[in-house]
Amino acid sequence: MMTNDIKWWQKSVVYQVYPKSFNDSNNDGIGDIPGINQKLDYLKKLGVDIIWLNPIYMSPQIDNGYDISNYRKINPILGTDEEFDTLLKSAHKLGIKIILDLVVNHTSSEYPWFKDAIKSKDSKYHDYYIWKNGKKGELPNNWGSSFGGTTWEYVDKLGQYYLHLFAKEQPDLNWENPEVRKDVYDIMKFWLNKGIDGFRMDVISLISKDPKYPDGPLVQNRKLGSYYAGAANGPKVHEYLQEMNREVLSKYNVMTVGETPHTSSKEGVLYADASRNELNMVFHFDHMHLDYGKYGKYSDKRFKLVDLKRVLTEWQNAMYEHNGWNSLYWSNHDQARPVTRFGDDDGEYRTQSAKMLGTILHMQQGTPFVFEGEELGMTNAKYNSIDDYTDLETFNTYHRFIDQYNLSKKFTMRSIYLKSRDNARTPMPWDGSENAGFSESKPWIKMNPNYKEINVKNALDDKDSVFYYYQKLIKLRHDLPIVTTGKYELLDKDNPDTYCYLRKGENETLFVAGNFTVENQTVKLPKFNDDGEKIISNFSAPNKFNGDNLDLPPYGTVVYLFSSKT
Ligand code: GLC
Ligand code: CA
Repeated sequence: MMTNDIKWWQKSVVYQVYPKSFNDSNNDGIGDIPGINQKLDYLKKLGVDIIWLNPIYMSPQIDNGYDISNYRKINPILGTDEEFDTLLKSAHKLGIKIILDLVVNHTSSEYPWFKDAIKSKDSKYHDYYIWKNGKKGELPNNWGSSFGGTTWEYVDKLGQYYLHLFAKEQPDLNWENPEVRKDVYDIMKFWLNKGIDGFRMDVISLISKDPKYPDGPLVQNRKLGSYYAGAANGPKVHEYLQEMNREVLSKYNVMTVGETPHTSSKEGVLYADASRNELNMVFHFDHMHLDYGKYGKYSDKRFKLVDLKRVLTEWQNAMYEHNGWNSLYWSNHDQARPVTRFGDDDGEYRTQSAKMLGTILHMQQGTPFVFEGEELGMTNAKYNSIDDYTDLETFNTYHRFIDQYNLSKKFTMRSIYLKSRDNARTPMPWDGSENAGFSESKPWIKMNPNYKEINVKNALDDKDSVFYYYQKLIKLRHDLPIVTTGKYELLDKDNPDTYCYLRKGENETLFVAGNFTVENQTVKLPKFNDDGEKIISNFSAPNKFNGDNLDLPPYGTVVYLFSSKT
């Protein structure tokens, strides 16, 4: 890749803010938009270039904003339209861009389109959604929804079912209808004309359904079938995205990242190959699936490093070969905290493993996403009781495991400790005071019990903190073009304990190594003609290095820059 072809989003780092849990400015216990504004200098200090905000629109909050009832209005619990404009302006003043979540696979059932659609088959909006005629009790197919139960909801008055891949309050839009697409494009233009810098597109791989609506296979011990075969990467998804690009995106200098569940690297390049004019990059799930067990996501299985290296390498290579671009992430608002999932959790090496994970991810080719609190090395929450959880996916799983599968409460809670989406949604701990400086009232969701130790204030007071390490990783991306351009090459792929790779530039090479264990490990280096210069490390690695073997302490990581090729 040539240095002068680089787009702004290719040398940027994104910080994901979960608005409800970031900072509460009016002390009602819910994070809000003015609260984000108050913390922009913190984000500037970290050095990130772009903020991605989870949905901030009007919403009954069945799924924390992923059920939108007005796409053009800010949810009053989060602030006013003017307060959003102010946030955008102050961020831009600091040189920080803002991208918003575009949730258009479905609307809320409270959205005016749906409220009209459900009244009569003659409504103009009826065909905005997906309906199947039928008798109550005779489901159109066997699909099970993401949050439990069937994907079909019966409306007596109409004698029809409507489709909802997620909650029944999230009816799927009918993208076959050109009016729907046009209205979606208008919504996008509304925000782009306000000056936002792009979109993260929610479950965008699911917008085109197989018109045959085939039954799905029974997987993960579920009684209902998987909808992916008939809904993921459907027949017209690329046609729609190319149209969206033509009609909207191509007219603005913005970035797009599509969330694409159930998408292999082979399918992924179809979205992100620049010559196809669809999206800039996608969030794939291959590394998120490595610890799925018999019952799917909620499992106590641990990932295997060899598999992690395999899937990440596959995506690195696929995007490189196809003129695409990768997103790089360890976590988001739907996932466990990375130190718990891939590192040493709250053990002796928590901060070491947080830094190691950051290094392994940030030195790859792509655009890194930091989820709020990751820069503190936050852990999963582990609340004592199921009643402390708030997320509908967590509740549905709890009841499915205990009532339907007769699994033990112990196994169920252990899986929830490891995978509940609430692990990511605990309020940002700003300091060790009551409610962690997040709010003066009781937060909408409980704090992580370890916030007195793991918080921003402690991180800023400690020059060895994960925060300052992330600050350095982000700066390296800005300062060293090879971090953006270098060709990735995996080393020692079958080593179960360490992750080593190269980034090869025109005349220089980066060597990146990480130890994923609590033991000392020795890694092998290829032969270089010169001494490598240490760029970053979480231990006292030699400043210059040129040898065959390098010792890494538990969760140790180091990056060397060689001004030669291997
Ligand atoms: C995406 C979101 C998730 C939401 C779902 C339905 O996966 O990240 O939070 O529940 O889509 O919109
Ligand atoms: Ca508030």
